[in-house]
Amino acid sequence: MSVTSIDRAGTVATNELPHHVVIVMDGNGRWAKKRLLPRTAGHHAGVKTTRKIVEQCVENKIRALTIFAFSSENWKRPEQEVSSLMELFMSALQTEVKSLHEQQVRVRFVGDLSAFSHRLQDKITQTMMLTENNTGLQLNIAVNYGGRWDITQACKIIAEKIESGKLRSDQIDAQMFNEHVCLSELPEPDLFIRTGGEQRISNFLIWQMAYTELYFSDLLWPDFDRQAFNDALVWFAGRQRRFGKTGEQIEQSGHG
Ligand code: FPP
Repeated sequence: MSVTSIDRAGTVATNELPHHVVIVMDGNGRWAKKRLLPRTAGHHAGVKTTRKIVEQCVENKIRALTIFAFSSENWKRPEQEVSSLMELFMSALQTEVKSLHEQQVRVRFVGDLSAFSHRLQDKITQTMMLTENNTGLQLNIAVNYGGRWDITQACKIIAEKIESGKLRSDQIDAQMFNEHVCLSELPEPDLFIRTGGEQRISNFLIWQMAYTELYFSDLLWPDFDRQAFNDALVWFAGRQRRFGKTGEQIEQSGHG
């Protein structure tokens, strides 16, 4: 078991920090409803929380943070909410990119970007290019992303390689398949956090999260603060990760 402490600024000191955290930021709509505000006000408040959690990941020297900003299924929301979310992404990128760059954050986007307006796609490309060589936190923003889409597009690429004779079917194994899904260049997610009280994965990174520790918080995303993120990190530090082995094997190897 690792020793974990939290200093007064809320930075977790531990040798068991996750390398890669993924977050489903749920509860913006309910947060707004409780205040009799439009749902978009909840999304605006959600962006503020996202900013703070990114800063906290930078402070804790976490290697990668992947956030689910818009799922393949979110197109089913009322048209007005979808378009205001698009506007929000655009304005958030405009206002946040300078500070992200200063913090050495490398911003990447994962998902099917072709469905977005050219204006938004251009902004996304500019953001990725500007921050490409940054060496700090890698922030992956999943937009129009779905785990089943990710696996399906990997299958298509592999099938095309077979059709063109570049690959034989007996060369397919989990490791080579993994090279064709999103985020394969990063360590697999260690810690999944979902706010908003629901306990499901909702088609996020379903291939990548085979061994991820799952943490659920009842807080609505705009209310998820530094303390709440620290609580998740401390919870993670106390987990024994077995990857199919027995608890005794892990304890004997000194990683328990
Ligand atoms: C889920 O809450 C939240 C979303 C679908 C949008 C998440 C987006 C942000 C927090 C903005 C992040 C911005 C950038 C630029 C990355 P919900 O609407 O499903 O809430 P509910 O379950 O209470 O209705």
